[in-house]
Amino acid sequence: VATPATSANAYDFIVVANRLPVDRKIGADGEPVWQRSPGGLVTALAPVMENNDGAWVGWHGAPDETVEPFDQGNMHLVPVPLSAEDVEMYYEGFSNATLWPLYHDVIVPPEYHRTWWDRYERVNRRFAEAVSEIAAPNAVVWVQDYQLQLVPAMLRSARPDVKIGFFNHIPFPPYEIFAQLPWRARILDGLLGADLVGFQRQSDANNFLRSIRRLRGHIVRGSAVHVHDDAGTPTHISRAEAHPISIDTQRIIDLAKSPEVQERAKQIRSELGNPDTVLLGVDRLDYTKGIAHRIKAFGELLDDGRLSVGQACLVQVASPSRERVGSYLNLREEVEGLVGRINGEHDTLSHTAIRYLHHSYPVEEMVAMYMVADVILVTALRDGMNLVAKEYVASQDDQVGVLVLSEFTGAADQLRHAIQVNPHDIDGLKDAIVQAVEMPEAEAKRRMRIMRRHILSQDVTRWSETFLRSLSNEEIEVGAEK
Ligand code: G6P
Repeated sequence: VATPATSANAYDFIVVANRLPVDRKIGADGEPVWQRSPGGLVTALAPVMENNDGAWVGWHGAPDETVEPFDQGNMHLVPVPLSAEDVEMYYEGFSNATLWPLYHDVIVPPEYHRTWWDRYERVNRRFAEAVSEIAAPNAVVWVQDYQLQLVPAMLRSARPDVKIGFFNHIPFPPYEIFAQLPWRARILDGLLGADLVGFQRQSDANNFLRSIRRLRGHIVRGSAVHVHDDAGTPTHISRAEAHPISIDTQRIIDLAKSPEVQERAKQIRSELGNPDTVLLGVDRLDYTKGIAHRIKAFGELLDDGRLSVGQACLVQVASPSRERVGSYLNLREEVEGLVGRINGEHDTLSHTAIRYLHHSYPVEEMVAMYMVADVILVTALRDGMNLVAKEYVASQDDQVGVLVLSEFTGAADQLRHAIQVNPHDIDGLKDAIVQAVEMPEAEAKRRMRIMRRHILSQDVTRWSETFLRSLSNEEIEVGAEK
């Protein structure tokens, strides 16, 4: 048993994630400065960190570089270094070319390489050690996402005194798919090191528990897994629960109310040539998001004459992501080819069919776009949650926009008054888009009111509080049930 850290630098609450919640920018004086980064995970956790006296352990985003720990706002940040080879094998390889497609319904084929697995294990150990060194006695550690699934068990064996939570931001696949993974049992053992394993949907938690039953032989009762060691001696109980993540609702509402953002929204609509209907898509350029499906459906509606250029315009923000991974390169080719073809056929000199933007934008600009959008298209083929759907709902303060939402997102469990679609069904998707464009205002208002009520009561603070409360309330005694 390792001795708990005793230095003054001991933290009671530690978040560990692949990425630190900051990006390095070059400031006006030419010196590098750290800025809070965009992205769902960061949006979700930054307020939690700021309300707690905690530390965040993660990679700072540049390969082959060691950065000393530093403070940013109320957060203590501990950078974990990754070499260029770590980035290639642990991040682009095992995390994003093995686990990501495997956990998202094998939309593209996962690649299985033993060298990538070895590196994943090594890098996970590095993160676990970094946490172990700074955690105060009996600290609470919250491990985030699929890049770090081995950290809970590694941490438990080094620091049995700490309380460990894990949250999986992406789906957990059905056993029949998970079973492909050559290291499936090792991943389950890694996760079972946590006292509480959180998932977006109850179906994800059920998939996880079913894999435990099939592969590990621990007793599973309800949400509780009675973990035993190789000799059959009970060690601890690990629980699997659904804790759907949300957004910083008030921040989006405040931005939607700000005169600058409202002014910007008017400007955007006029820059687009004041079409009757603005449709919007906002995604990382990822094959899980169904971007090509939605563009195809929109293109066919123009072909069929059910929509026309000038009357309707689709704005597609596709922010650059994982650009060195092969399937992402292919996707970019596909989407840009499709956009080029549709625009070539339908654009006029004054108006475009699809305004395609391969950029990422600050949140102020995103909220202005949400306010312009009469219809938002969230057509993911599989998505753990999808925070864009929730942000859109939060931003509709005076607006009465319509949300078209894939049933394969976690958000679909909560936003039941969206127009729900199966994005694989292109005819169904086309009808849903037309239904959204033509929806009477009274109905759009009614649906939006119900969805807003949900988003207002279930924000990200509520999410983290609920998770952390469940983590600290261990009602079941180890070995109490056999
Ligand atoms: C998803 C994952 C996060 C990840 C984010 C951006 O939301 O759940 O863990 O940070 O995508 O992807 P990236 O590979 O750039 O970190």
